Amino acid sequence: MKKIYLDHAATTPLNPVALNKMLPFFNELYGNPSSVHEMGASSKKAINEARKKVASLLNCKPTEIFFTSSGTEATNWAILGYSEKNPSKKEIIITTIEHHATLHACEYLEKKGYKIHALDVDHEGFLSIEQLKKTINSNTLMVSIIWGNNEIGTIQNLEEIQKICKKHHVALHVDAVQIVGNLKIDLDELGVDFMTFSAHKFYGPKGIGLLYKKEAIDIENLIHGGMQERGLRAGTENVCAIIGLAEALEQSIQSLDSYTNHLSTLSTKLYHQLKSKLPQVRLNGPMIGKDRLPGILSLSFDHIRSFDLAFALDKEHIYVSTGSACNQLNILPSHVLRAIDQENISNTGTIRISFGIQNKVEDILYISDKIVECYLQNKS
Ligand SMILES: Cc1ncc(COP(=O)(O)O)c(C=O)c1O
Repeated sequence: MKKIYLDHAATTPLNPVALNKMLPFFNELYGNPSSVHEMGASSKKAINEARKKVASLLNCKPTEIFFTSSGTEATNWAILGYSEKNPSKKEIIITTIEHHATLHACEYLEKKGYKIHALDVDHEGFLSIEQLKKTINSNTLMVSIIWGNNEIGTIQNLEEIQKICKKHHVALHVDAVQIVGNLKIDLDELGVDFMTFSAHKFYGPKGIGLLYKKEAIDIENLIHGGMQERGLRAGTENVCAIIGLAEALEQSIQSLDSYTNHLSTLSTKLYHQLKSKLPQVRLNGPMIGKDRLPGILSLSFDHIRSFDLAFALDKEHIYVSTGSACNQLNILPSHVLRAIDQENISNTGTIRISFGIQNKVEDILYISDKIVECYLQNKS
């Protein structure tokens, strides 16, 4: 029986070119980059080259790139590190559909007396620019926004958000974890202050992320210890993963057009197939085509529980998510679905399908038939 992985927003397989670049660093070039000898120096050189490559791909300075253990760490560092360095301002603006990395870092600050403004989003997941203008004020420390939503695919209007932050001299942190490979990222043009990335979402290894931080901005360390990452993020570097991240980033940027076309074709075909058989199925987030991540389809079905549908598909070796991957044990609709669809969520099951490079157009009919079959067998 064939296995079909449809959960690329949770994680992606490792790009074979990235894997090959990583391999020598496991057991041949294993020197500690902080060591003074030749083997240490060659690891250090490899990291420096990876940093330069990342900086040139994202159009920023190498000194603005900091490798972290994950997107979660990068986000925590931007929010907590910046707030610690700037204690006079105590308000942060986010949206109700942020990833838990942002939500929980902000909840932590809320307990310490910060005011967190979680802006509502509309039915498709867009924040209101007018609301942002009304909320931002002289006490606002930072705006932190998820650029591409991992559950419903909504892509926020970053240009407008950046203009408002700039006008008010408020720092802007952007969670771009789901954006790489889907949209062009030019940090110089975007003018944001912080941006978070995670390699395993763009066919790089797990356990490695990065924080872009504008040179002029200071943040406090999140992790204390040695002098790695220019004294700001201690801990022996994950050399293999850094090499893999840089290579995977290059590959995904190079194949952006063909990749996004492929994902759009798959999403459009599956959505139309399903709609023709189950007209009541609902697509969450923006309509296909505009301001949405091309590979993510969040679909809601009446009279079924998300988990029953996902488990039925699992038995057929079709792997989907019920919301965000970090949410698997939570049986309530996710905070994102609640934020966009307050009225319609009871008695409704939602699955997230997220396509990737190895999914095939010729499998779409099979996938659609299996979803319909599993739905009809499990609905109440
Ligand atoms: C939008 C978004 N932000 C942040 C993260 C966290 O990234 P990581 O898995 O590297 O901690 C994820 C992962 O699911 C994500 O989708």
